[in-house]
Amino acid sequence: MQVTVSINGEEYTREVEPRLLLVHFLRDELGLTGTHWGCDTSNCGTCVVLMDGEPVKSCTVLAATAAGHEIRTVEGLEVDGVLDPVQQGFTEEHGLQCGFCTPGMMLTARALLDRRAREAGGGELTDQEIRTAISGQICRCTGYATIVRSIRWAAEHSRSGA
Ligand code: FES
Ligand code: FES
Repeated sequence: MQVTVSINGEEYTREVEPRLLLVHFLRDELGLTGTHWGCDTSNCGTCVVLMDGEPVKSCTVLAATAAGHEIRTVEGLEVDGVLDPVQQGFTEEHGLQCGFCTPGMMLTARALLDRRAREAGGGELTDQEIRTAISGQICRCTGYATIVRSIRWAAEHSRSGA
């Protein structure tokens, strides 16, 4: 079947099998290998991308299902050579070690910060809110403390990516 998916503001059309998962569409059909694939059980969350601004595990979404939606991958975080504050935060606060979980973590963080920006009077972002937002994603390296600090740094230096 033919599918057309909008990714990072560009439309991509490919002939694919109906069963093709979005994670494989991104990586194997389009070469967008910043989206990682870490398990066969929908547990690790390293494959997270944004669909219409909300985090989804791209290993649980068919490429065909993504048609008609706006997908954002880690490749779409940087705009015109300027890193997203989330990317800067992970650099400033050493939010990664091996980096395997990092693209998904950063996209979840971007969605969290965009959601907070839309909600007037949300108050200061708490560590518990950050930990809840990333609770579907596993990091084997950092112990999460530096990831939380990185997202907090981004919140304090943020612009909306929406
Ligand atoms: Fe592990 Fe998607 S690859 S949850
Ligand atoms: Fe290695 Fe998170 S930095 S899995």
